[in-house]
Amino acid sequence: MKHFTIVGNWKMHQTPEQAVRLVARLQEKAKPRTHVTSVLCPPFVSIPAVKAEIQDDLFKLGAQNLNEKDEGAFTGEVSGAMLKELADYVIVGHSERRHYEHETDKRIAKKVAAALRNGLTPILCVGEKLSDKQDGHTRRVVVDQLQGGLSQITGAEIGKVIVAYEPVWAIGTGESAAPDQVEPVVNVIRQTIEEMFGEAASGSLEILYGGSVSPDNVKAYLVIEHINGLLVGGASLNFEQFTAIMDTAASISDGR
Ligand code: 13P
Repeated sequence: MKHFTIVGNWKMHQTPEQAVRLVARLQEKAKPRTHVTSVLCPPFVSIPAVKAEIQDDLFKLGAQNLNEKDEGAFTGEVSGAMLKELADYVIVGHSERRHYEHETDKRIAKKVAAALRNGLTPILCVGEKLSDKQDGHTRRVVVDQLQGGLSQITGAEIGKVIVAYEPVWAIGTGESAAPDQVEPVVNVIRQTIEEMFGEAASGSLEILYGGSVSPDNVKAYLVIEHINGLLVGGASLNFEQFTAIMDTAASISDGR
């Protein structure tokens, strides 16, 4: 039986009140999905309200970012030590943070380590830009981001990391990557993890795909052998679409 992790990245959407309404709607339609872990990643300010609304452990919670330090004079920042009281997961190195907030692999590596130090599961995002793809540099970019982002962790910790492959050109564009474009990159990710941490770590690593995932294309990704789930942006803000995505994951996992 294959297990899937389906993560909704709400980005900078949903006030606390709106977030509570969205969770309530998601739960109205929820049925037990035994082999699916569903994770919601609201903005920081909405996490407590969402946590209070979640029933029967139907959803896990994640954050979209964290500071690499545990505390200190860093105005406006939120640490893993704070998040661990509220959440189980944290997205690290999303391409929007790499681009708009100029996050480097070096800083991302410290954030991955901070997440693990605080018992949070980091979801490390990697992926090439359109120009990288056009220049034939996808492999190099993904390998560099993995080697950089995972440079501060040990072999004992890699088992607690999730990697999300999100080609930047597919994010929010409606232009999802074709499954036959995703599969070779997923293989590159496994190969890189094997080189860095060994075969067992590579075999058990959870890899998600993200980029314009919708109810219409979800199945095509989840049947890829080495994909363990999805990181969903826009469609996770629509309760009908996100429910359809989770239900498809549940039915595929039941059939395997
Ligand atoms: P979209 O699903 O809106 O393309 O966003 C993907 C993403 O960035 C999830 O982290």
